[in-house]
Amino acid sequence: MFEKFSFDPQNTGENRCEPRAFYLPYGTADGAMKQVDCDRKQSLDGMWDFHYYETLCDLPENPSDAVFSETIPVPSCWQCHGYGKIQYTNVNYPIPYTPPHVAIDTPVGVYRRRFTAPAGEKIYLIFDGVCSEFIVYINDVYLGMSKGSHIGAEFDVTPLIRAGENTITVAVLTYSDSSYIEDQDFFRFNGIFRHVYLLSRPALHIRDFFLTTKNDGTVDIDLSLSGDCENLESELTVRLFYPDGTEVPDGIENPLLWTAETPYLYGILLSFGGEYIYQKFGFREISVGEDCALLINGNPVKLKGVNHHDTHPKNGYTVTEEELWGELCLMKQHNINCVRTSHYPPMPAMLDMCNRLGLYVIDECDIEAHGTELAYRGKDPSCQISGNPAWRAAYLDRAERFVARDKNAPSVIMWSLGNESHFGENHVAMAELIRGIDKTRLIHYEGTSTVRRFSETHEEPIDACVDVESFMYWGLEGVEAKGINKAGDPRPYFLCEYAHAMGMGPGGLEDYWKLFYKYPRLIGGCVWEWADHAVEEGTKNGMPVYLYGGDHGEVPNDGNFCADGLCYPDRTPHIGLLELKQVIRPVRAQWEDAAHGVLRLSNMLDFVNTAEIFTAEYAVMDGEQVIASGTLSLDMPPHGKRTAVIAGLPEKTQYPCFVNISIQYKNDTLYAKAGTEASFEQLPVMTEVAEMGTPWSDASVEVHCDSRFAEIIAPGFSVKVDRARGSIVSLCKNGEELLARPTRFTAWRAPTDNDMNISPRNWKMEFVRYAGFHVLSSEVSRTETEAVVSFEGSFGAPARFPMYRMTLDYIIRADGIRVSIHAERNPDMLVEQIPRFAMELVLKPGFEKLDYFAKGPKACYVDFQNHAKYGIYHSTVADEYEPMIKPQECGTHIGACYAVLTDKEGGTLRIEGKDFAFSALPYSAEAMTDAPHRHELTPDGNTYLLVDYKVNGIGSNSCGPFLPEAYIFRDETFDFTFDIR
Ligand code: GAL
Ligand code: MG
Repeated sequence: MFEKFSFDPQNTGENRCEPRAFYLPYGTADGAMKQVDCDRKQSLDGMWDFHYYETLCDLPENPSDAVFSETIPVPSCWQCHGYGKIQYTNVNYPIPYTPPHVAIDTPVGVYRRRFTAPAGEKIYLIFDGVCSEFIVYINDVYLGMSKGSHIGAEFDVTPLIRAGENTITVAVLTYSDSSYIEDQDFFRFNGIFRHVYLLSRPALHIRDFFLTTKNDGTVDIDLSLSGDCENLESELTVRLFYPDGTEVPDGIENPLLWTAETPYLYGILLSFGGEYIYQKFGFREISVGEDCALLINGNPVKLKGVNHHDTHPKNGYTVTEEELWGELCLMKQHNINCVRTSHYPPMPAMLDMCNRLGLYVIDECDIEAHGTELAYRGKDPSCQISGNPAWRAAYLDRAERFVARDKNAPSVIMWSLGNESHFGENHVAMAELIRGIDKTRLIHYEGTSTVRRFSETHEEPIDACVDVESFMYWGLEGVEAKGINKAGDPRPYFLCEYAHAMGMGPGGLEDYWKLFYKYPRLIGGCVWEWADHAVEEGTKNGMPVYLYGGDHGEVPNDGNFCADGLCYPDRTPHIGLLELKQVIRPVRAQWEDAAHGVLRLSNMLDFVNTAEIFTAEYAVMDGEQVIASGTLSLDMPPHGKRTAVIAGLPEKTQYPCFVNISIQYKNDTLYAKAGTEASFEQLPVMTEVAEMGTPWSDASVEVHCDSRFAEIIAPGFSVKVDRARGSIVSLCKNGEELLARPTRFTAWRAPTDNDMNISPRNWKMEFVRYAGFHVLSSEVSRTETEAVVSFEGSFGAPARFPMYRMTLDYIIRADGIRVSIHAERNPDMLVEQIPRFAMELVLKPGFEKLDYFAKGPKACYVDFQNHAKYGIYHSTVADEYEPMIKPQECGTHIGACYAVLTDKEGGTLRIEGKDFAFSALPYSAEAMTDAPHRHELTPDGNTYLLVDYKVNGIGSNSCGPFLPEAYIFRDETFDFTFDIR
């Protein structure tokens, strides 16, 4: 039987129709324009009979003879319904490397359903997405075959269909030769995962059309029919509509131009042969400036992008239109203006949504041969597939089909030749083919970087087939060099992936944006990636259980590298999305003259006056108190600036004083309600701040001291210090013991995903997790009101040079402890970046309420703090924990003045200091380190309070560059003082 399947990449499909633009024909003009309930479309989505064969050899000669004992929904991925194995692998192929062949034990899913033939002279069958290769039978007769999972396939079923009831059978391979060029970094799912439907059409109909526009109002249609028509002129009618839906009487003059900020869509209604096709389109021109800027309609634009995969925690690749719309609205709410459809063409509906919402799209072809790199390790893998003529047909077929399908979408500004397939002649041929079809967009492919790295001195770019110099994950220095552009490359420079958003982070976004804004040639980038991929299996403690690579025993797998999004799998934003939102904010503000309250506002948008979309409110804050407030004018042309004055700035305040400015949507939009905050700005106001610390008691204290312990007792307060270990072993307030265990000093944070390289290489080697304070000598001195327990010693790990020589004083009065540390770095120590330096206080169960003044409300770090504002916050220990799929460092707040934990009886523990950091969590750093999944953590009731001198930066080194020096904790010396009250 399996001769119907082809493992020859030259054979890309059988009996498939010529590729064409995506559209739906309607029976009425009205229906076409409303674009709902298409009367010429018959969906074949729904329950199908299903049978899963373990190997291709088990498949009957004619798949229609399969015995169907089960059913499965279409669209869906069969792994999500219990068939086959769940596997997450990134670069490594899931199968042995024997291209183009795959072993014949590849499983096959066979689908079958009945349907009643629609009326119509011509009936077409359309699959929007099937993985992997599939063959189709109508009424048990072979119809055709297709490859190219995410591109879609159309068949003319007219010859095989009969009036009344018919059957359709589809056999889908798990792996095929396509698997070698569909090696994207994701869970490997299979099945009919996008819609299937029939179209009934007249014998003679419009097959394809390509709309091109000029910004002077010219609209060109290149149209093809299914057959010959002698008087096309008289039979075809074309009507044009303005964005408001009214009809254009004659030609269009001075059109409103489409941009991501002004997504004006005109409409064209084609009627021919009794069919109506309505297509929305936009006027927009793409070009490159002399300074290498990306120009849309002649204006320089920055791409504030994300990489988007189709991924759903329960349904794999199958995403509904509603879910997708929700995702794109969420992007817009977070100031994102660009999406790269990594790494394959999206559902057709997505482009229409991007046209309407205003998102620039980098539409990517369904080609990734990344696994050649590891299979063929050490040699240049380019020749393997991308440079191999045997695969050219497959590359060209995919290029032709995706461009044909998506060519009418104004949102698409670049065609991307695929991802991570190295660079070969097949790419050059693809680019040539695409240019032959469409000259209005830029061609992108990052994989040419494999040769480009060595081509700096070439006069002609060595990869002249692409219009954009694209890279992934470059560090700031490299990016800046590309902005300076000594090599004189005339093309824009784009980071198709940067800022790996895995786990806590990404850090350092603002640094990239400083460069993007500085150099015209740096046109922006797309954060990797939009959402975590995970498989949801049940719930625990009221939260979904999310599984990742390896959790299903699969080999090879890449662990939690799939959980690297700005959103959780259910699209709850991670803190990283809030950070991105703020970094790419539409309005920025800074002091021009802080003393007189003069602000400089900047419109960061490319096309609209900010006043058209947003309003600005400000409030001058003293703690939680608003001392002055008002509104600001945002009347600024695109890229423009203006000044504004904040009146009534105070001279003295109780707390450090700030002006908070909130930029809000003025009116309802498709994606945000009026009043929704688009961004904020917080600027410090220099005031005389009242002494914030709680005054110290002058009451006398009792001191009991032996060579091991020093106990300091006052009415309602007592402290016991371990002189051997430098810890506080007991802290009682009003007879209540607060500590669950002795305090200690620690350098440990549960490694973030972005620590995944430094942690095993350096932190593990240097036993950083086990670092602590080691006492060499201790002394106790006292006065009537105060006892001082002093230590000399070192801070470090077993078996290694200490990190720091350290002195420590506990200055204890009748109502509190001042902790004072001086540390000097040991030049011999080998810890490259110290995760943190903190005192850990483990508080007994009950200390759940948290009040603080610091940067919040979400966790923030030195290079990940744009999303946070200084202020007074009220939280709980449970809420401080950030439930990332793989537990890791979280909950830290920098810039703290105080943090108070309160138990149920009102007992408090208060930390005071200047510009310290802290976290208060239900788990220890060690527990979070050791739990591979969030559902494996169980709170023990204690509160884990870390009072930090400093926490190392976050970065995005899980896939990106090293943490920049400025964010590394490597202080030569430091002093750290805080009070426990
Ligand atoms: C890139 C790749 C993405 C993803 C990412 C790491 O190299 O293009 O598909 O694998 O790295 O998460
Ligand atoms: Mg890859």
